[in-house]
Amino acid sequence: MAPPYFLLLPLLVNVVLQSPLTASQASPPISLPGCPNKCGNITVPYPFGFEPGCFREDFGLVCNESYSPPRLTISGYGYEITDISPKGELHISVVAKRACYNSSGGYISGTNTYIALGTSPYLLSVSNSLFAVGCPNQGYFVDGDGYYVSGCVSACRPTQNSLGSTNGSCTGVGCCESSIPNGLNFYEPSSQNFGSAREGTDPILFANTTNCSYVFLADSNWFHFDNSYLLRTTDFMASVAIDWAIRNVGNCSYASRNMTDFACRSANHDCHDSDNGAGYICNCSKRYQGNPYITNGCIDINECEMKDEYPCFGVCTNTVGNYSCTCPRGTEGNAYMKDGCRKKDTFTLALKIVTGASVGVFLVAFGCFWLYLGMQKKRLIRTKQRFFEQNGGVLLQQQMSSFKTTTFKIYSKEELEKATNKFSEERILGRGGHGIVYKGIFEDGTVAAIKKSKLMEEHETKEFAKEMLILSQINHKNVVKLLGCCLEVEVPMLVYEYISNGTLYHYIHDKNFKAPIPSDERLRIAAESADALAYMHSSASPPILHGDVKTANILLDENRVAKVSDFGASKLAPNDEAEIATLVQGTCGYLDPEYLLTCQLTDKSDVYSFSIIILELLTRKKAFYFEGPEEGRSLASSFCTAKKEGRFLEILDVQVRNELQLEVLEEIGDVIMQCLSMNREERPTMREVADTLEKARKFQRQHNHGRMMHNEEKSTEDTESLLGDSIDIYASHSSMSYSFAQQAILDMEAGRRRF
Ligand SMILES: *[C@@H]1O[C@H](CO)[C@@H](O)[C@H](O)[C@H]1NC(C)=O
Ligand SMILES: *[C@@H]1O[C@H](CO)[C@@H](O)[C@H](O)[C@H]1NC(C)=O
Ligand SMILES: *[C@@H]1O[C@H](CO)[C@@H](O)[C@H](O)[C@H]1NC(C)=O
Ligand SMILES: *[C@@H]1O[C@H](CO)[C@@H](O)[C@H](O)[C@H]1NC(C)=O
Ligand SMILES: *[C@@H]1O[C@H](CO)[C@@H](O)[C@H](O)[C@H]1NC(C)=O
Ligand SMILES: *[C@@H]1O[C@H](CO)[C@@H](O)[C@H](O)[C@H]1NC(C)=O
Ligand SMILES: *[C@@H]1O[C@H](CO)[C@@H](O)[C@H](O)[C@H]1NC(C)=O
Ligand SMILES: *[C@@H]1O[C@H](CO)[C@@H](O)[C@H](O)[C@H]1NC(C)=O
Ligand SMILES: *[C@@H]1O[C@H](CO)[C@@H](O)[C@H](O)[C@H]1NC(C)=O
Ligand SMILES: *[C@@H]1O[C@H](CO)[C@@H](O)[C@H](O)[C@H]1NC(C)=O
Repeated sequence: MAPPYFLLLPLLVNVVLQSPLTASQASPPISLPGCPNKCGNITVPYPFGFEPGCFREDFGLVCNESYSPPRLTISGYGYEITDISPKGELHISVVAKRACYNSSGGYISGTNTYIALGTSPYLLSVSNSLFAVGCPNQGYFVDGDGYYVSGCVSACRPTQNSLGSTNGSCTGVGCCESSIPNGLNFYEPSSQNFGSAREGTDPILFANTTNCSYVFLADSNWFHFDNSYLLRTTDFMASVAIDWAIRNVGNCSYASRNMTDFACRSANHDCHDSDNGAGYICNCSKRYQGNPYITNGCIDINECEMKDEYPCFGVCTNTVGNYSCTCPRGTEGNAYMKDGCRKKDTFTLALKIVTGASVGVFLVAFGCFWLYLGMQKKRLIRTKQRFFEQNGGVLLQQQMSSFKTTTFKIYSKEELEKATNKFSEERILGRGGHGIVYKGIFEDGTVAAIKKSKLMEEHETKEFAKEMLILSQINHKNVVKLLGCCLEVEVPMLVYEYISNGTLYHYIHDKNFKAPIPSDERLRIAAESADALAYMHSSASPPILHGDVKTANILLDENRVAKVSDFGASKLAPNDEAEIATLVQGTCGYLDPEYLLTCQLTDKSDVYSFSIIILELLTRKKAFYFEGPEEGRSLASSFCTAKKEGRFLEILDVQVRNELQLEVLEEIGDVIMQCLSMNREERPTMREVADTLEKARKFQRQHNHGRMMHNEEKSTEDTESLLGDSIDIYASHSSMSYSFAQQAILDMEAGRRRF
């Protein structure tokens, strides 16, 4: 038998690894060895420095101690530095441009200024703004080539006290602010002299003028306007933010090729490309701190001394680039969490004592250990069996054998763990109110979406198996298919068909992807989803309601065919009055108002929510939106208002307005209006909505054909091939109409139609 020493191994490794690190840590270096790191109270980190050999080329500073406090300036430029951040920013102090006038508008005195940084590591930061203070005043500046860069106008208001401006806000009265672009190395402010206009000939524009006007660049976090600036007649200094970077070579990937020149000297650094101008800046990696520009400048953070950022509720041990946190002796669990450690059960405690004793007893303990593992495993199996039974697995198994379901499968916990790589973060497809959806890849290569729900109430789990059985019977081309479930876990998990092209919500609203959506496609998606819901409402008794109809629950496959998902979260409609849902579910902007009043979910609640989907498709606005001057904030209310005022067409997407026939839009508008009726009885059924949409599609298609044929007649010189194309399109459209007609007949035969 193998010697049992390996049980001691983890303990030994711990001791060896930890001992050198528990020693107290040196503070990280700031400047090169032997170099001063302060000028007065300003910290000067390398690559900056002010003594020979203490700075990188281009980063030399001058510290003049004959001033009190000492003055730190940029060598060769003379700008006074007030602070340096190793994160690539520093501040210089620059006088504001001033111009003062007498009461008849004659220039009395002033101060001019400029900043010229040339080719240096320094550029003006975009956290600066150009400010013009005093009134009337127009401040602006041009770049080295004479082009305007930034400017604004500050006006006087006669009526309010204190010249009409309010303390702290720089919004055009007495003070104005204008942002500046990236990449500037030059700035020279100008201001407009309003001259004799100051005399107050126009009381509205020029009443209450200030004696002096100022124009200056300043870090917008530093400058806070207050009214005392309007009475000022003397000069003041403004704090200007400067972005610095290592700019002599280029970006990180380019510069890191020449290690003798690369500025990120320390191990454990990260290099970031500068986001203002060329070049790069260095940073210590996560869990390291110090100065990355110095060899060995990044040192390990002792996380154990920073419990706020790095939680540990047990014995904390710092390691290089990380830390570990273990439960105190005699307890076990997760010490990274509060109350994560529990008393160890006595059996393992005993095991530990025995392992410490002697090799002879060890062997016995070793046997016990295996016995213990065996017991643990049995317990695990018992737990799984308990969950399986509790979740109605037995019932489901029995019923499955009587139904002829071929595709529905009961999965084991291990299968799902394997398919999702132990529910790894990378596999998450989405998170919702009801749970998390993972992408699962099974051993045979099939891909599925696996839904892990949040905790359910016990009475809900009882109903669960029954619902599964009904949902597994559903076979509709526009409903996401339920492939199976796993019941061996506390909360059952559902396995759905994987739909590859994201949600309808994304398709309509994604900012990065606002490509036009053909109106045909919008109508088709609406009609397909309506058909799916109508089918679910009529396929079982009591009907299957969705309860959370929204664009985020409609998925699109690779051909953008709509697939309604998340029926798993829905409930079977209560079949007697007493059974009233207590839990309001659904999403803001889609909720049936009557459902909120009565707490009763009906098929008409789905109809209400569905009409919002049609509106989203036609307007490309969100169900609940804030932008724009619209009076209502929910799509439903702005639609109703617009419709009542006869302005319905105005809220539609321009593309829809251009492409769809007025008749079609009016028909759909009317049906949406009915769907949004406060009274359930007045709303149409889902089937009626689906039929209206289908009719609208047909009408629109016929119209499109008509237009196409018309065009053909007009241009009789059309080439053969063009004509051929049109005929092809016509043929494919008519075969589509045929298949829809066929579907309608089939539906009618199945007795699902209500009218
Ligand atoms: C440095 O000293 C000046 C005045 O002596 C003070 O205004 C400033 O806030 C100090 N800066 C730092 C970073 O302590
Ligand atoms: C410091 O400033 C004083 C006064 O402006 C000047 O005379 C002196 O040369 C400066 N010293 C250095 C080292 O630049
Ligand atoms: C204002 O200044 C101008 C030019 O400097 C001068 O001609 C004019 O007399 C001054 N007006 C008053 C009221 O001082
Ligand atoms: C505006 O701010 C200045 C300086 O902070 C203060 O003296 C003045 O009282 C403030 N005025 C008002 C109306 O708050
Ligand atoms: C501002 O101008 C109005 C109208 O010219 C005048 O009545 C008022 O006294 C002035 N206020 C101040 C603070 O100068
Ligand atoms: C502007 O200058 C005039 C004349 O010098 C003076 O009487 C007045 O008080 C000044 N106004 C302000 C706001 O400083
Ligand atoms: C870095 O610079 C090189 C050469 O100038 C360029 O080819 C490369 O695209 C740049 N890389 C990035 C990430 O900007
Ligand atoms: C690397 O940088 C050093 C220092 O700037 C320079 O002398 C050398 O020529 C560079 N080597 C290459 C291959 O560019
Ligand atoms: C540098 O690292 C720190 C700590 O990891 C981080 O907070 C900071 O954002 C990083 N800076 C840059 C420019 O990435
Ligand atoms: C740090 O340690 C934890 C727990 O030991 C581990 O999960 C994590 O991956 C480690 N992080 C790094 C960056 O090594």
